[in-house]
Amino acid sequence: MQKISYDDKCLGDWIKDNEWAAYSDSFAAAQTMLEKRSGPGNNFLGWLDLPATIDAAVVKKVRDTADALRPKTEVLICIGIGGSYLGARAAIEFVSPSFEDLRKPRVIFAGHQINSDYITDLLELVKDKNVAVNVISKSGTTTEPGIAFRIIKQWMEKRYGKKEAAERIVATTDPAKGALHRLAIEEKYATFDIPSDVGGRFSVLTPVGLFPCAMAGLDVAKLLAGAKEAMAFCSAPTLDKNIAGRYAAARNILFRRGRTTEVMALFAPQLHFLGDWFKQLAGESEGKNLTGIFPASVDYTTDLHSLGQWMQEGLRNVFETFVVLGRTNASVALPRLDDDSDELNYLAGKNFEDVNAEAYRGTLLAHLDGNVPCATITLADRTEETLGQAFYFFEKAIALSGYLLRVNPFDQPGVEAYKKNMFALLSKPGNEKKGSELKQRLSKLGL
Ligand code: PA5
Repeated sequence: MQKISYDDKCLGDWIKDNEWAAYSDSFAAAQTMLEKRSGPGNNFLGWLDLPATIDAAVVKKVRDTADALRPKTEVLICIGIGGSYLGARAAIEFVSPSFEDLRKPRVIFAGHQINSDYITDLLELVKDKNVAVNVISKSGTTTEPGIAFRIIKQWMEKRYGKKEAAERIVATTDPAKGALHRLAIEEKYATFDIPSDVGGRFSVLTPVGLFPCAMAGLDVAKLLAGAKEAMAFCSAPTLDKNIAGRYAAARNILFRRGRTTEVMALFAPQLHFLGDWFKQLAGESEGKNLTGIFPASVDYTTDLHSLGQWMQEGLRNVFETFVVLGRTNASVALPRLDDDSDELNYLAGKNFEDVNAEAYRGTLLAHLDGNVPCATITLADRTEETLGQAFYFFEKAIALSGYLLRVNPFDQPGVEAYKKNMFALLSKPGNEKKGSELKQRLSKLGL
């Protein structure tokens, strides 16, 4: 059953029927390039049929390994960055209870920034807890997770001894190369392979996302089943039937009108990290060759009290994609008070979602009046099946959108620039010449 919808009726003032028609050929060409695997980046299309082709043995190993570790784990430390971090975080926040203390086991994240206070506080947090670690890096050489793991591995070995520490550490990495791969073999960690034809930001439905999800108690089979359903409805050959294509086309039409920023407006707190995951997916896929829609996200109604003013009356270079939940897990209704001391009796009997729904509808109309093109994605509920559909829908939409923008959506050459500079400045062997050039430049800047 389809549990995600895309409604672009409100774009009628910006996109006319003839423009949709004009885009249908480009959409069909992009869809064909994906299906025939003939477009740029075609060696990174493993995600395209992954929900249908993933090896049942891999899914079983994910579940078995999680089932064995969960009873002896109060906290899982999940170490990774970018595509090796955001998918699992988005999934766990989407499905799990809102507060970490209500989650068993808790999953906490590390290696997604560089900060001594964070790692010190993390080790303080887990000092009396039973801990397991999942270190995730496709390349196995990324600095942020690498240095976090060096500290956490040492802590684990001191706490548990080398043998038991190794039994509590799971490595998810390239099956054949990289420092993490070598270390995992040497230390006899349980390992999961990241398929070589799936890039980081498209890897949430591989063990990169599946294992932390399974540890958090999510049903990974349902996640994959949802994604498989989305494969079907996101493959429809015409724009009017294919919501991923329609969304991709709308983004491109609006972009060409000068709407260069997409604001994803998330109407439930459990969607926050889905927004972060989407920003990486879209930003790394499209931001290249001096083009690309800038992906932003806001949390409503929270940010209506901070960025709402900008959205209503600021520079009109944006379009807005609302993401709403069809149903929450709980329903809290407002009681009637005899004295109506807070003057809220007019809401008595309504639940929080009734109020949130009118906040969404009111915001939509206000922003349309403020000349913001708006569309809405509705996710039926907070289940794994719906989330699986959402992950696949966004992956397919951004792949199509990248091809419509005429970029290779599957590479990220720009990510290397800061890394090269950082390595040179940190005197990584082999980078000495570049290091001294950069230091001279910095000294001229007084840095
Ligand atoms: O999408 C990507 O490829 C990147 O964001 C990577 O996921 C990120 O840089 C982490 O890389 P790795 O998994 O090699 O540590």
